Amino acid sequence: MAGRIVVISGGGTGMGLATAHCFARDGDTTVLIGRRAEVVNRAADAVEGAVALPADLSEPAQAARAAGEIGERFGTVDVLVNGAGGNGTLEPGPDDPDAPLAATAHDWSVNFRGNTLTAVLLTEALRDRLASPGGRVLFISSIAAYRGSGTGAYAASKAALHPYAHDLARALGPRGVTVNVVAPGLVEDTEFFGGLMTEERRERLVGETLTHRPGTPGDVAQTLHWLASHAAAHLTSQVIQINGGAERGH
Ligand SMILES: NC(=O)c1ccc[n+]([C@@H]2O[C@H](COP(=O)([O-])OP(=O)(O)OC[C@H]3O[C@@H](n4cnc5c(N)ncnc54)[C@H](OP(=O)(O)O)[C@@H]3O)[C@@H](O)[C@H]2O)c1
Repeated sequence: MAGRIVVISGGGTGMGLATAHCFARDGDTTVLIGRRAEVVNRAADAVEGAVALPADLSEPAQAARAAGEIGERFGTVDVLVNGAGGNGTLEPGPDDPDAPLAATAHDWSVNFRGNTLTAVLLTEALRDRLASPGGRVLFISSIAAYRGSGTGAYAASKAALHPYAHDLARALGPRGVTVNVVAPGLVEDTEFFGGLMTEERRERLVGETLTHRPGTPGDVAQTLHWLASHAAAHLTSQVIQINGGAERGH
């Protein structure tokens, strides 16, 4: 299955970058999308056969432009990995004690735009270009979709991907395209926590796993790589949890 075109949103860092390395080892071409041009450019320099494509995928016009460039350059997309997203609390909103709902609206909007819209807009823009048969659409959700995330906003924005993936799997199944979701627990060595992870919280999260360790970007990347392989051709509309058993608990 060498020589595929693999589009990875969030491909400049963390799990997306690890995923790009996995596909590059097969000789695939990866297209790395993220908002920061310097980050995707640096990542593309580090990954064999990678191309950088800066875009804010929560903006419809930018998602359309990115998909147009992919279409012009490559025609068909074999694998689409929707990894862009993040913890909306890293983008602080208004803090007006007289208008607390403004902060709530910001929290929910930022998470929805960053985690749901980024994936849906790019997928809709590329769905007609997916290899048929054989195309793969993959989403990165979160353990939070099952357990909440504090305010609920991040968790809900990830959970929204599950029914979308199911509807997509039903629509694209007749074309021979599969659609699946992975839902990681704590994964270290990414920019997700923005330096805000405390030792106490880390210990608690690792303690919830049955494997007594945090996840790595490679854990997620290799699962995505397998889901995109021939071996997983009859697996569709599933959510695969990658969390060392943390969601089930002890
Ligand atoms: N780390 C964890 O513990 C964990 C657990 C469960 C799920 N997740 C999810 O896993 C995915 C990968 O995260 P990660 O942990 O690898 O963190 P990460 O290193 O922060 O990766 C997220 C990537 O998404 C990109 N991105 C964010 N918003 C974007 C937008 N609007 N348009 C285009 N690109 C955008 C970021 O680049 P720019 O900032 O340059 O745009 C960044 O490269 C995320 O969806 C995250 O929510 C993470």
